Amino acid sequence: MTTNKEKETKIFSATKNEQEFLIRICTLDDLDAVIEVNERELPEDYPYFFYKNILDDFPEGFLIAQNKQGKIVAYIMWRVEKAPSINSLKYVNKAHLVSIAVAEGYRRRGIATTLLSNSMKSIKKYKIHEYVLEVRVSNYSAIRLYEKLDYKIESTKKNYYRDSENAYFMLLTV
Ligand code: ACO
Ligand code: ZN
Repeated sequence: MTTNKEKETKIFSATKNEQEFLIRICTLDDLDAVIEVNERELPEDYPYFFYKNILDDFPEGFLIAQNKQGKIVAYIMWRVEKAPSINSLKYVNKAHLVSIAVAEGYRRRGIATTLLSNSMKSIKKYKIHEYVLEVRVSNYSAIRLYEKLDYKIESTKKNYYRDSENAYFMLLTV
């Protein structure tokens, strides 16, 4: 069992931002700030209980980045699902990227890359076979970010978003 206190103090290495940003598992106290980042940066918003359920179920996949002043500037959250594998009918554990966002003034410093790679590592304990995500076909920066981490476009999901934009379904098999 991991206690909340341990979660709070768990520090992940943060590549080139080591001096500037702290990457750690989200806590209940952080949720309002996470929601604020989400609502400012993404049109896909969720109710409080949605974040809370993900935090309760998969805390290792729910990371935040905070600056020296303690301000939360980015988050990532994953959900783990049992579903048929892309390559076979076998049921496998898939990690589904629910959402990632970095506040506007903090981008292009490797924060998203660090959040992604650290969270993918820390959810390995669920014996993940596939990492999957959807991204707007127009979201060039995010697509580049995922491609840099070896995700490949697997298919297009038509009218995936509320405004009817298509999504790329991207996949990384391990
Ligand atoms: N233009 C081109 N490439 C970019 C850009 C950009 N504006 N931003 C990131 N990239 C690519 C680059 O290849 C970059 O590597 P480089 O800087 O060495 O060239 C690579 O992504 C990694 O960049 P990071 O600095 O790690 O990414 P950042 O911390 O800036 O965050 C993110 C990227 C999350 C896409 C950010 O722009 C953001 O929050 N956007 C708004 C929210 C969003 O679109 N989230 C993803 C939605 S999809 C989902 O949540 C499943
Ligand atoms: Zn999804």
